[in-house]
Amino acid sequence: MPHLPKPVLLAPMAGVTDKPFRHMVRLFGNQVLFTEMMGVESFHRNHPTTRKMMSIQDEKNIVVQLVGVNKEALIEAAQAAVDNGAIGVDINMGCPVKKLITNGSGAALMRNPLLAAELTEAISSRVSVPVSVKTRLGWDNEHISIVDFAKTLESAGASRLEIHARTKEEGYAGQADWGIVQRVKESVSIPVIVNGDIVDHLSAKKALSSSQAEGVMVGRGALGRPWMLTEIETGTTPLFSKVDLVLQHLDLLLSYYGRKGLFIARKHIAWYARGQKGVAEFCQSVYADTEMISVQRKIKSFFKENI
Ligand SMILES: Cc1cc2nc3c(=O)[nH]c(=O)nc-3n(C[C@H](O)[C@H](O)[C@H](O)COP(=O)(O)O)c2cc1C
Repeated sequence: MPHLPKPVLLAPMAGVTDKPFRHMVRLFGNQVLFTEMMGVESFHRNHPTTRKMMSIQDEKNIVVQLVGVNKEALIEAAQAAVDNGAIGVDINMGCPVKKLITNGSGAALMRNPLLAAELTEAISSRVSVPVSVKTRLGWDNEHISIVDFAKTLESAGASRLEIHARTKEEGYAGQADWGIVQRVKESVSIPVIVNGDIVDHLSAKKALSSSQAEGVMVGRGALGRPWMLTEIETGTTPLFSKVDLVLQHLDLLLSYYGRKGLFIARKHIAWYARGQKGVAEFCQSVYADTEMISVQRKIKSFFKENI
């Protein structure tokens, strides 16, 4: 199977693409990995969770994603990301979560291109790494504004765009429309990355040929499959022992989060187990368990039977 001719990036996913998960993805390849989105106001207030998210000093090839509309706080967080070794800073202009929309950030910025441009310009003129923007096709089907929005962001200094090929109103429903991304490609000269519903080598190839994008970004396809970026890149599933992988991920979560890590691990364990025989009983039992040793035992016995 020929390698994909373009790069594969890990999408930012809140509650998922934390340091332990990025470590798991790194076991398989050296792709560009995005952090979870970090609220810049919360970073400014020294919130311990956001400060912890910013600790990327021991990692390579990391893009830090920021969310917010406070210019000074955005610059402060972007500068911290650069100081900690980020190779890029990304501004979230696509998240549909109500709390963000209400304060004018995330996808709400698509309805306020002047502010979107002002923020992009302010950050890109202040930091020494490329500043990218992750966004969507538009607010809803009546407002597919991405071509104009992309041009505005390019003029403001954005170095690259990652486009989730759905509108804000669509959320995650329906099929991502990779074809519209090609219209963006024809209108700007900065690199464009296509995102949405890319789950394997074949869908990545189709997304690239429909969009002519410079690369693909993978989100949900990597849940419980940290090897997926490499599989998409090479067209071949790398060799690994799933039981060892799940146990290692659990260990990393525990050392990174302490006891809370066991609860955070539950969703990851469920994603690893997806589609396997006896998954419902296994997950029910893991979700009810608060003892690390016994969760490890259950993982060993489930994944040994389900290679
Ligand atoms: C659990 C979860 C968390 C997400 N968090 C973020 C985020 O922090 N920032 C962001 O820009 N997009 C976020 N997204 C959107 C993804 O980055 C991506 O655009 C979307 O899932 C579509 O790609 P996919 O079909 O490959 O999953 C999130 C998606 C999921 C499923």
